Amino acid sequence: MTKSQELFSRAVRLIPGGVNSPVRAFGAVGGQPRFIQKAEGARICDVDGQSYLDYIGSWGPMILGHNHPAVYEAVVKAAENGLSFGAATEREVEMAELICQMVPSIEMVRMVNSGTEAVMSAVRAARGFTGRDKIIKFEGCYHGHSDAMLVKAGSGVMTGGQPGSAGVPSACVQDTLSAVYNDLSSVDHLIQQHQGKIAAIIVEPVGANMGVVPPKEGFLQGLRQRCTKEGILLIFDEVITGFRLGPAGAQGLFDVTPDITTFGKIIGAGMPVGAYGGRREIMECVSPCGKVYQAGTLSGNPVAMAAGLAQLRILQSTPQIYEKLNSLGEQLFEGMRRLVKQYQAPYTVNSIGSLGCLFFTPSSVQNYEDAQRSDTAAYGVYFRFMLENGIYLAPAQFEAMFLSHAHTREDIDFTLESANRFFARTVGNLGEK
Ligand SMILES: Cc1ncc(COP(=O)(O)O)c(C=O)c1O
Repeated sequence: MTKSQELFSRAVRLIPGGVNSPVRAFGAVGGQPRFIQKAEGARICDVDGQSYLDYIGSWGPMILGHNHPAVYEAVVKAAENGLSFGAATEREVEMAELICQMVPSIEMVRMVNSGTEAVMSAVRAARGFTGRDKIIKFEGCYHGHSDAMLVKAGSGVMTGGQPGSAGVPSACVQDTLSAVYNDLSSVDHLIQQHQGKIAAIIVEPVGANMGVVPPKEGFLQGLRQRCTKEGILLIFDEVITGFRLGPAGAQGLFDVTPDITTFGKIIGAGMPVGAYGGRREIMECVSPCGKVYQAGTLSGNPVAMAAGLAQLRILQSTPQIYEKLNSLGEQLFEGMRRLVKQYQAPYTVNSIGSLGCLFFTPSSVQNYEDAQRSDTAAYGVYFRFMLENGIYLAPAQFEAMFLSHAHTREDIDFTLESANRFFARTVGNLGEK
């Protein structure tokens, strides 16, 4: 028995599913989770001494690579002065200044502890500001696990949400409307049906929780126009795209200005952090300035702020980082596309910058329904093959691959060679594996 197996057998007795977040379990791909002991650069190492090339990067925040010296030093230095005060600190001001500088749509910002909290608070602020209750989200977009966001959208447009989890009362999701990603007519339909009642449209500007699904040309601009016309607030959930697709995130890349933006883990460089911010008049509704209540004992935690500031300052001052990330992304995802073509494999590669994924479906993926056509069992075979070859991918088809500045061209070559071997062995006879 490996040490990971032994730990897992102890974990399942005491922790639901043996993990503290469902996607960490290998339920969707088969096998048992590896327990990770340490990480450095682009590699993680498990408790059995196996080293893997990591394409998760803690689901995004390790954009500079694991254990970056500047982040590490900032954390150690901050910890020397105490771990938490529950009172205002200088670093929180520096963090707010930096975020507002890097993302021009943000005039005021509030720190929280996770992406879930950021979205939950942003939606509350939008409702408080507009005096309206309903929100539109898109099928396949994940915005954390607050009640109102856990709507299992049916196919097509729904007029009222259905809870996607036990324990969520239907009253909590009755104001959550679902539209189809990349389909403005589904949004128009909802706006018409609920005229004057919609507080906000929330969207991942690049879908990254149904696999990677970039917006079609004009989709984000179309949302902006509709929101402006109807007095609806546009919320970009940039938990994945923020500070990754560029210093100003997806909104900078696509040149579309949201009213509110939510951020998550990347601001903490691996520490538990989230934030929401936007136009001053909206953010001034938040307590103690305004009547929208929102609070947090550990919000703006001094150690987390130190880590995040160190990472964001590097990202701000070194534009070459984004050039390298994009060039690695091109090498990897173009390489995958070449393999798909060469083997005439029934797969599709979607990507943007340093984010991408291989869908096990031959048809183009532009929304949740398209993504659902993927052969998830085949993904499981692929995942296990790559893991055995020392490559750690997301243990689920509907997740992104994340590149970091610590990956090298040789790492990408190695990954493509492994994928090549997988394609050579399995294309055409996946059913037999
Ligand atoms: C787009 C998006 N929003 C919100 C969240 C929730 O963030 P957290 O897991 O920090 O609560 C996630 C998590 O990955 C996410 O991808």
